[in-house]
Amino acid sequence: MEQLLQQIEDIKKEITDAEAANAAALEEFRIKYLGTKGLVKQIMGEMKNVPNEQKKEFGQILNAFKIVAEEKFAALQAGLGDSAEAETGMDFSLPGDPTPVGTRHPLNLVRNQMVSIFKRLGFAVAEGPEIEDDWHNFGAMNLPEDHPARDMQDTFYVEEKTADHSAWLLRTHTSSTQARVMESQKPPIRVICPGRVYRNETISARAHCFFHQVEGLYIDENVSFADLKQTLYFFVQEMFGKEVKVRFRPSYFPFTEPSAEMDISCQICAGKGCNICKHTGWVEILGSGMVHPKVLENFGIDPEKYTGFAFGMGVERIAQLKYQVNDLRLYSQNDVRFLQQFKSV
Ligand code: DAH
Repeated sequence: MEQLLQQIEDIKKEITDAEAANAAALEEFRIKYLGTKGLVKQIMGEMKNVPNEQKKEFGQILNAFKIVAEEKFAALQAGLGDSAEAETGMDFSLPGDPTPVGTRHPLNLVRNQMVSIFKRLGFAVAEGPEIEDDWHNFGAMNLPEDHPARDMQDTFYVEEKTADHSAWLLRTHTSSTQARVMESQKPPIRVICPGRVYRNETISARAHCFFHQVEGLYIDENVSFADLKQTLYFFVQEMFGKEVKVRFRPSYFPFTEPSAEMDISCQICAGKGCNICKHTGWVEILGSGMVHPKVLENFGIDPEKYTGFAFGMGVERIAQLKYQVNDLRLYSQNDVRFLQQFKSV
């Protein structure tokens, strides 16, 4: 007993005299006295050898001993903090520099929102290659080689056709993904195909040599034009709010019959008339129609049994209406000042 008390006194003295010049020394102190195998724990372990009638008194001595060690540790730690600040001349209580967090590209935000709306209607996402062959981009979509409608889309050709393969090109529309899907899936088909497309256009505020589309394709028994209208109406209401008005205009696309373009009430001027809607109050946002029987036949789908609708729309156009961006070039210039504005939809 005597011996143990003496030992405690000795260690206490050691603790009181201890110094820690740096973090490593502080850690050494902690391990030596307060660690799981440290001296405080060891001495505490002696409690079992103390006779019962002395346990209470000895317990108090031990507690006081432990507090000495802990307080010394706290004091050394505090001292170290101060000295580090003094040494470096830095104020460690200042808040740190925030790490700049990136933002999503506005086109991605809009595309994701578009896709998620159609997903809720049961559409699956399908993707196709950007370097495509003539057949999937044009031929299969009912645009044979000499078809005048090919002029509607100025094409970047990658490789001329050979004896055993049609020409390679950069896809001019995501309708080529329709061809890829019909080639590999049987009806019922319900897909949405987001992607980048290319056209040989002079770059300006209103035109770019690449842009983005979201394509839709729905093939099943008894699919009607009414289904097409309702689906697209639902889409624009989710995208722009319940107030949005729509109108369909007859149009022409080789891959649909009948074909229609859909306008929505201008989201910039609320239909009053502005530059974006060319003072008409309406903005065209997509092309659509009932899938042409010839297109179905190209993929062995029986047009007597199945019907379908398809549509294609520009992501940039939707983003323009959502964010009032008037110059298409901004989307690909990677100017952080522009991009940082788009935190979420
Ligand atoms: N591919 C057309 C374009 O790029 C858009 C389009 C129109 C897609 C009608 C369709 C459709 O699926 O049915 O101008």
